[in-house]
Amino acid sequence: MGKLQDKVAVITGGVSGIGAATARLFAAEGAKLVLVDMNEEKGADFEQELKSEGINATFIKADVTSEKEVHDIFTTAIDTYGKVDVLFNNAGIGNVKPTEELTYAEWRKTVEVDLDGVFLVAQAAIKEFLKADGGVIVNTASMYGWVGAPGSAAYNAAKAGVVNLTRSLGLEYANRNIRINALCPGYIDTPILGETDREMLTNATPMKRLGKAEEMAKAVLFMASDDSSFMTGNSLVVDGGYTAQ
Ligand code: NAI
Repeated sequence: MGKLQDKVAVITGGVSGIGAATARLFAAEGAKLVLVDMNEEKGADFEQELKSEGINATFIKADVTSEKEVHDIFTTAIDTYGKVDVLFNNAGIGNVKPTEELTYAEWRKTVEVDLDGVFLVAQAAIKEFLKADGGVIVNTASMYGWVGAPGSAAYNAAKAGVVNLTRSLGLEYANRNIRINALCPGYIDTPILGETDREMLTNATPMKRLGKAEEMAKAVLFMASDDSSFMTGNSLVVDGGYTAQ
């Protein structure tokens, strides 16, 4: 019996990096997967790959900043599997730029995906969970939701927003059988790092290595399963020691 046996899990940003690693671990624990992403090509390939391994997975192309597309995610998930039990609200984009060079459009885009998108998908899930008598949400924030850093003001502000959105939603639904927590990763070796100097990030991390997406997946599984049954409105920082400094 897996920790998510017969549960239906929606994972945004679910075809790459932390989302994809979590999809694999959730499936190994018995979950059926609804993978949401804007990247249609990667999504179709990942869906095929999982299906060929006998994993129950459905890919939906959607932009988490579109209210209509977000609504349709849950309609499709419920049409396909009859219910949704878990949301891993994880899609996000990076933004590294000195503030004096950051355009307002870049600021808006970052906050739109990394904060507004998390709100829209959480809200849609909560509406279903209230009808279904409960559910679990794990939002992806960042260690930069806890500490500041130069050169990524928009990202850091959005992620701090996710940390406090998580507290607020956790409290709002604490007595409605809906648990809502957040993952705060440190530097994790995924495509979002792009051209960022990995050696610099490694040196800045007390454990002197980057985290692996699979290590994040284990923390997400804890928060998505009954192992964390008394946890809500809180964040789990998994960062190789970065924020302990
Ligand atoms: P990734 O780039 O591998 O995955 C992010 C996924 O989100 C991509 O597949 C992308 O297509 C999707 N996405 C982006 N915008 C979207 C939108 N508007 N609608 C739907 N899908 C969209 O990167 P990673 O590292 O797996 O990122 C997952 C989450 O972890 C993000 O929220 C990121 O901010 C967060 N995070 C990552 C850290 C790292 O060092 N890798 C550190 C702290 C937080």
